[in-house]
Amino acid sequence: MGAVKVKIVEYEKYGEADVLNIVDRTAPIPADGEVLINIRAAGVNPFDWKLRSGYLQKFFKVEFPVYPGNEGSGVVAAVGPGVTNFKAGDEVSFLSRNIKQGCYAEQVAIETEHVVPKADHISFAEAAAWPLSGVTAWKALVETAPISKDMKVLIHGGAGGVGGMAIQIAKHRGAHVATTCSAANAEYVKSLGADEVIAYDNEDFSTAGKIYDIVFDTVGGDVHKNSYEVLKPGGTLVWIIAGPVEDLSEEFGVIRKLAVVENVVDALEGVAGLINDRVARPQVGPEFDLSDVAAAHIHSQSGHAKGKVILAIS
Ligand SMILES: NC(=O)c1ccc[n+]([C@@H]2O[C@H](COP(=O)([O-])OP(=O)(O)OC[C@H]3O[C@@H](n4cnc5c(N)ncnc54)[C@H](OP(=O)(O)O)[C@@H]3O)[C@@H](O)[C@H]2O)c1
Repeated sequence: MGAVKVKIVEYEKYGEADVLNIVDRTAPIPADGEVLINIRAAGVNPFDWKLRSGYLQKFFKVEFPVYPGNEGSGVVAAVGPGVTNFKAGDEVSFLSRNIKQGCYAEQVAIETEHVVPKADHISFAEAAAWPLSGVTAWKALVETAPISKDMKVLIHGGAGGVGGMAIQIAKHRGAHVATTCSAANAEYVKSLGADEVIAYDNEDFSTAGKIYDIVFDTVGGDVHKNSYEVLKPGGTLVWIIAGPVEDLSEEFGVIRKLAVVENVVDALEGVAGLINDRVARPQVGPEFDLSDVAAAHIHSQSGHAKGKVILAIS
């Protein structure tokens, strides 16, 4: 009998979304400390199309073919040697290490420290929608610029994958939360708990005065630059790599910190806990079949995804 084959998305060169191919490859075998997962849904992140386009060549060296996708949900099919905390049949969410991807696939083998049980009350699509965005928001607002009760916090891009989780985490920590998004998404971000919405197509957030303790920048560019204007003296601009940024922190007398998505085990468990306790709910945007992976990338590339773009896999 030949080796079992599974479908996976790959690309052999940088380019537009049409470089994405679905190919068969030999099913992975879980190594020591890994579980083999039958993937049910995968998250599509801006990182994936930025890497595919070649925009990130300066920062990340890749070897072709590249297998995109670094988060998802599914059912444990088998466990590798030494694994005692998961068993076949367990429903899980997972986040791969940053550049070690390959989650737009029918199966992945992944180390157990990056796998958490799926909450019973959420769907597989929801379970695939949070690992990267939830961990990023946690890194920013719990570990890098910790929010405490009654702080005034501005979260840019509240309608996106990261912003949606950030609003819920910030509210849970007792902050007064303002967020920016397009006017079309104002009701949506309020439904996630935002106290105030600044619709960037009608209003300029940078004229609010120096009122925020923390600004979380998930957008970059002018949004980053103008954020210095609205921080209290000594306040913190926490940011993730989204667009070009300028460091004006000294000029404005504020603190500027990059939230880095590394050492994610505590953050994964932290966000999983909030979801289990129904404090936070992952936000699912449009769903695409694996065969429509190019359309999923094109949607993410618009820069206006509402919730997480999801690939439904089986
Ligand atoms: N480790 C890291 O550094 C890290 C980790 C995760 C993500 N990221 C980066 O962070 C960014 C956000 O990620 P994501 O997954 O949340 O992206 P996303 O799901 O694609 O969301 C982008 C959001 O940005 C909003 N937006 C666009 N222009 C805006 C503006 N001028 N002001 C306010 N909101 C604006 C859009 O809302 P509207 O449609 O309402 O405009 C959209 O909802 C991406 O660039 C991603 O690559 C970095």
